Amino acid sequence: MSRHYSRADNLIHQFDTVLRTLLPHAARASRPSPATPDVHDDDMSAEERRHAAGLMRVNHTGEVCAQALYQGQGFTAKLPEVRTQMEHSAQEEIDHLAWCDDRLHELDSHTSVLNPLFYAASFGLGAVAGAIGDRISLGFVAATEEQVGRHLDEHMVKLPAGDHRSRAVLRQMAIDEAHHAQLALEAGGARFPAPVKFGMSLMSRVMTKSVYHL
Ligand SMILES: [Fe+2]
Ligand SMILES: [Fe+2]
Repeated sequence: MSRHYSRADNLIHQFDTVLRTLLPHAARASRPSPATPDVHDDDMSAEERRHAAGLMRVNHTGEVCAQALYQGQGFTAKLPEVRTQMEHSAQEEIDHLAWCDDRLHELDSHTSVLNPLFYAASFGLGAVAGAIGDRISLGFVAATEEQVGRHLDEHMVKLPAGDHRSRAVLRQMAIDEAHHAQLALEAGGARFPAPVKFGMSLMSRVMTKSVYHL
């Protein structure tokens, strides 16, 4: 049985997702965190915990951006299959969001105060990509996921040696992101040219530098 959703229903749903993304501890994961109770950290100094929190805050904001990107695309994407696929991937990003949030909490730290800003910017980019067309939209997902994957690999190296719980989370995220990128390309996503990718990595550098501290 299919239900017809009115424009008002959709707006309420969108608003609900915005709140779930931006309010601390509001995201509910559908899979348990890979940082299971039997994964223990080695002793870490206060400085190491602060560093781990900075990195996990960046990863959390990355997931906020992913949510906003998928939301923006879902708002304007033309093909229903693309919409469905975006919603499915966005669902998996909610797990990542919740896992990073939990880990920040364990490290006695907080999510970034800049998240609403990055949410708005990413929603706008996603909506523009979705409006241009599905090939571009899916290509944007693939390029973003590949970039996030590179970040995650870097962070797994940069984390303090004793931080096994953060590393467990990032390892599973990297697997999921690679899958998202592959799905987007298989669904017909365009391969982006190097200058576009360069622009994207500049933007992500701005995000990384600011969110690590804030
Ligand atoms: Fe993710
Ligand atoms: Fe992803």
